Amino acid sequence: MESPTKEIEDFENNSLKYLQADQIEKIWLRLRGLLRCLVKQLERGEASVVDLKKNLEYAASVLESHVDTWSFDVFTLNDASGDHALKFIFYELLTRYDIINRFKIPVSALVSFVEALEVGYGKHRNPYHNLIHAADVTQTVHYLLLKTGMVHWLTELEIFAMLFAAAVHDYEHTGTTNNFHIQTRSDTAILYNDRAVQENHHVSAAYRLLQEDDEMNILYNLSKDDWRELRALVVEMVLATDMSCHFQQIKAMKNFLQQPEAIDKPKALSLLLHTADISHPAKNWNMHHRWTTSLLEEFFRQGDKEAELGLPFSPLCDRKSTMVAQSQIGFIDFIVEPTFTVLTDMIEKIVTPLIEEASPSGLAGFRRSSLNNIPSDSKRSTVRGTGSESGTSLNCSISAVDFKTFKSTWNEEVHKNREKWKAQAAKGINANIYTCT
Ligand code: CMP
Ligand code: MG
Ligand code: ZN
Repeated sequence: MESPTKEIEDFENNSLKYLQADQIEKIWLRLRGLLRCLVKQLERGEASVVDLKKNLEYAASVLESHVDTWSFDVFTLNDASGDHALKFIFYELLTRYDIINRFKIPVSALVSFVEALEVGYGKHRNPYHNLIHAADVTQTVHYLLLKTGMVHWLTELEIFAMLFAAAVHDYEHTGTTNNFHIQTRSDTAILYNDRAVQENHHVSAAYRLLQEDDEMNILYNLSKDDWRELRALVVEMVLATDMSCHFQQIKAMKNFLQQPEAIDKPKALSLLLHTADISHPAKNWNMHHRWTTSLLEEFFRQGDKEAELGLPFSPLCDRKSTMVAQSQIGFIDFIVEPTFTVLTDMIEKIVTPLIEEASPSGLAGFRRSSLNNIPSDSKRSTVRGTGSESGTSLNCSISAVDFKTFKSTWNEEVHKNREKWKAQAAKGINANIYTCT
């Protein structure tokens, strides 16, 4: 077996940047083998911290060519990385936004923390609420920030808060719903008085990891003010992923958009995370179908427990009678599409003035506006290429923002997925008709 370091050197001599899609696919496959090899070495304790850092940076440079796409294949990354998709995505994005340097995050703490997150995501062996979902939501948040130009509205601290919140947002999920916790009077339900039971746990337990072990404390070098601001944002964003806030959240944002006032930043960031959290029905069919199958299996396992406990089945939890296709059409029509519509309107309201300010001067940068609490230029984020010495830079200029493409991308996927479910539902109905004599 060739050493990963040798492979990395070979690879770095062949810049990825100018490769065609099929060549990138080949490298993606090679990367899969390489990462598997690296993971084995790590498991055997053969890799040093220096190697580890180098290899992570290398993986980041490969990820760079994939991570900016809407239907990013997080499952392939997870297979390639030996079940470490969250580690690779989180590391890549914190590097990309220069968060590691800006907030002086010790790399060893970052690795320990994200590995601990991964362990927590695996605690209940959930088919859906696992580290792959966390990686998926984190990557989706990144896509939304970057491609819609929202990144230009945010400070580095706010970007850090968004990525951090996405990474921890379902930490130690039990694979059951809040209502199941409440009905079974679980310790967590009692602890949090039946309110946003799991969401409270996700943030609290993630912060406890940082607090109880300095070796994991990625927030160690933050100033008091930064620490507080980040925490306030993270708590608000993760609590707002509770689906019982959904309709209120959408209604409040719609109202907000009718008003002339500036949009409340924590509310805007919360909606962005919530949208990423329910975004799989707006991804390509393969992704969406796989996520749906996993989620339904998780719901059915809860149904099995409910049957054992003599409780009534929760919605979508009875494996014998749940109409999967219909449930998905309902989820798309009543939840996903309206959410994406409001998010898109919100982003247009936020980013359009930034584009207008930037365009007449033709400058790459743009002046600050008094609207919307835009931070001072010195605080506003800049997006670098990866920190992995590749020196590449992203096309993240405000003039590259293209709402039309963003809108049509998610709209088309939602439409195609709805049609596929409709076709499946029709088949199901026919089958019933034929068997029902
Ligand atoms: P969670 O990821 O904690 O937050 C968003 C929730 O939306 C998710 O848990 C599920 O409970 C729910 N959800 C996501 N996708 C679907 C879907 N396709 N069908 C029904 N519910 C979903
Ligand atoms: Mg959740
Ligand atoms: Zn989630």
